[in-house]
Amino acid sequence: MAIRVLLAEDDPGQRRVMEYLLTEEGYSVAPVASGEEALKAFREETPDLVLTDMSMPGMDGLELLSELKRLAPHVPVIIITAFGTIRTAVEAMRGGAFEYVAKPVNNDELKLVVAKALEHKALEEENARLRLEVKGKYRFANIVGASSPMKHLFDVMTRVAASEATALILGESGTGKELVARALHVGSARRDAPFIALNCAAIPENLIEAELFGARKGAFTGATRDRKGRFELASGGSIFLDEVSELPIDLQVKLLRVLDEREVTPVGAEKPVPLDARVLAATNRFLDAAVAEGDFREDLYYRLNVVSIVVPPLRKRADDIPLLVEHFLENFGSPDCSVDPAVWDILERHPWPGNVRQLENVIERALVLQKEPGRLTVADLPPEIRSPQNRPAPRAGDFPQEGVDLEEVEKDLIQAALAKTGGNQTQAARMLGISRYALIYRMQKHDLR
Ligand SMILES: Nc1ncnc2c1ncn2[C@@H]1O[C@H](COP(=O)(O)OP(=O)(O)OP(=O)(O)O)[C@@H](O)[C@H]1O
Ligand SMILES: [Mg+2]
Repeated sequence: MAIRVLLAEDDPGQRRVMEYLLTEEGYSVAPVASGEEALKAFREETPDLVLTDMSMPGMDGLELLSELKRLAPHVPVIIITAFGTIRTAVEAMRGGAFEYVAKPVNNDELKLVVAKALEHKALEEENARLRLEVKGKYRFANIVGASSPMKHLFDVMTRVAASEATALILGESGTGKELVARALHVGSARRDAPFIALNCAAIPENLIEAELFGARKGAFTGATRDRKGRFELASGGSIFLDEVSELPIDLQVKLLRVLDEREVTPVGAEKPVPLDARVLAATNRFLDAAVAEGDFREDLYYRLNVVSIVVPPLRKRADDIPLLVEHFLENFGSPDCSVDPAVWDILERHPWPGNVRQLENVIERALVLQKEPGRLTVADLPPEIRSPQNRPAPRAGDFPQEGVDLEEVEKDLIQAALAKTGGNQTQAARMLGISRYALIYRMQKHDLR
């Protein structure tokens, strides 16, 4: 559908010239000869843009502007002023005009201003739409997502939250595992009791036991009083064991006993205390591989993995990127910041090895370094995101003495990319930095399907 421009100009000659010019540009132009007529036409059918002369008999451009801004503030109005009337031009800008153009009108300038106003309006509308979506249905607690993998995740979470089952949350670093754990707690009947998180990788091995299960006064040097462990602190609520794969083997045994018997024994205590905390655990390692390697006890794995919740990597859900970006802009206090289309393009193509956390950091950094307030441009993105060429190339390692078969290396990389993306050619091509057609050509060359 053609873009509609309402044109108000009392001088028939100038009106005809501008009408011709804009029609040539592909706009559908409605010419009128006065402010009153413009208002009437506007009420009948809202145009995409209004171009009005400043001085017209009866209702002038400024009066028309203020009426229009009242009726539909989002429709851009461009005012055409007679040469030398800079004061009224300033007034027009204050009244909400998008821009003013001085007479005699320069054709190129007029075209440019109109195009700019329309682009601005399109961006505003896109932002408003996204904001509405983010505010609306596409979230579970504060987890944003509208892609089908995320909808599936929300479904699973809805069912798991209501149950008391121990849950194991799996996913790459930065995918949102901790958010999921918190949402499960908030979505459960235990929501008013504490959510206690413990990062198993961050606590020195000799302190974990006391940290988890508590310690009695005198149990070891430094234990000058009874101390409650995280399990006890989480009583009535949930305990979240983050990076559970890093738990030392002897503590894995103790944890297993806690889960089986539903009671914890503080270090140095005679008697156990009953456990009343729901256990949630997370890891970014492949636990089944850790089990196979003997790093993780198989029985504990099954005990934790009563239900498993897999948080998908960001590269498998590029659809969520606009929503996440809007969400972060809002969180960082710039809800009205506009985002250039070229930025969307780059963000949606990036493979995001650091997942949502990396995207969040990129947006935060961009807002700090922003060249133009209220607007994110490509220049605000870090170089490694901005252009794939700047991405560090994978190291070839020690180049083998006997040389390599470059064709075989290419084939290997293509197969690896396809495997990583579950056979998705568009995503695999992105990861390889080539077009989809280039990928298909190479797949045929190597006889890959
Ligand atoms: N779907 C989402 N919606 C909104 N924010 C998200 C989402 N996923 C992740 N985040 C944000 O990204 C950051 C990383 O999330 P989180 O700490 O939960 O990841 P993680 O999977 O626990 O990572 P790690 O394995 O490195 O500990 C947090 O700031 C979180 O708020
Ligand atoms: Mg985490």
